Amino acid sequence: MSTSRRKFLRSSVIGSAAAVGGSNIFASSANTSTAIKNNPVVVSTWDFGKTANVGAWEVLGKGGRALDAVEAGVRIPEADPTNQTIGYGGLPDRDGRVTLDACIMDEKYNCGSVMCLEHIIHPISVARLVMEKTPHIILTGDGALQFALANGFRKQNLLTPESEKAWKEWMKSANYKPEMNIENRLYNKDNDPMPGGPNNHDTIGMMAMDAAGNMSGACTTSGLAYKMHGRVGDSPVIGAGLYVDNEIGAATSSGVGEEVIRIVGSHLVVELMRHGATPEMACKEAVNRIVKRSPEKSKTIQVGFVALNKQGQYGGYSLQPGFSYSVKSNTVEQVFKAKSYYQ
Ligand code: GLY
Repeated sequence: MSTSRRKFLRSSVIGSAAAVGGSNIFASSANTSTAIKNNPVVVSTWDFGKTANVGAWEVLGKGGRALDAVEAGVRIPEADPTNQTIGYGGLPDRDGRVTLDACIMDEKYNCGSVMCLEHIIHPISVARLVMEKTPHIILTGDGALQFALANGFRKQNLLTPESEKAWKEWMKSANYKPEMNIENRLYNKDNDPMPGGPNNHDTIGMMAMDAAGNMSGACTTSGLAYKMHGRVGDSPVIGAGLYVDNEIGAATSSGVGEEVIRIVGSHLVVELMRHGATPEMACKEAVNRIVKRSPEKSKTIQVGFVALNKQGQYGGYSLQPGFSYSVKSNTVEQVFKAKSYYQ
């Protein structure tokens, strides 16, 4: 790329950021080439990411690859029947079917995704096989299931009695319409769920950097509870729910997927970091875009982004209070509350 083109790109991004956010979000030009080697780190969405990070750390702590770490990490909530937003025990769609979305991305832009996959407890591992064993990136529905079964995955009933009960309860008063029946879980300042629905939209997105300085990410969810059958959110959409650029960093999201897809949120966050934004400021700018597009709607929904850059810095930002992210490294094991647009 010519120097003048690079300068043009940089000034246009800075210009639009300043217009939306009211200030220049670029603290300094990113030093994109320096990874902190021998300092592995894993970052994931929400407080339950803490347990998932432990799974990732089993790999990272032994000098393993970031890709293996993120797969191992998110398999933990996928198998947890008490988590009603991911994998086994996830709340079903409005037809009572548990449909799962997941994607994974490595340090070389390789990626794999499954959408609307039923009956398989670990969609992330199917996504990884799509990446590694097929010439494709995305498999959906029956095709994804067929591929999983052909590769030794076992068909299981993922609808737990608890989730079936919740769905039947919802059915009593549900408008069977193509609408957002329950927006998502909002929290008050004390982190208590506010009225408006059960646990919803608590996707796990995870990013890791290994001791060699390579980055990977994974994202997995059962999606919006009681969604229309066939609905797919941001989580398995590369660039929306997850993006990894091994020169710059990685980002992932949780919340109402439709809003994240519209702004190609995770890719946007990574590109903002490329132009010098810190992880938190990049996430904030992505949230600002959502507010700018739909100021009224943005008051009633939750979207959160979290990012990790190549220097091992991390940060997050959300629309509503209550979004958190979990970090584990050699020196830190902590859940952080993200700052939010609304208070
Ligand atoms: N972010 C998850 C979804 O919208 O399905």
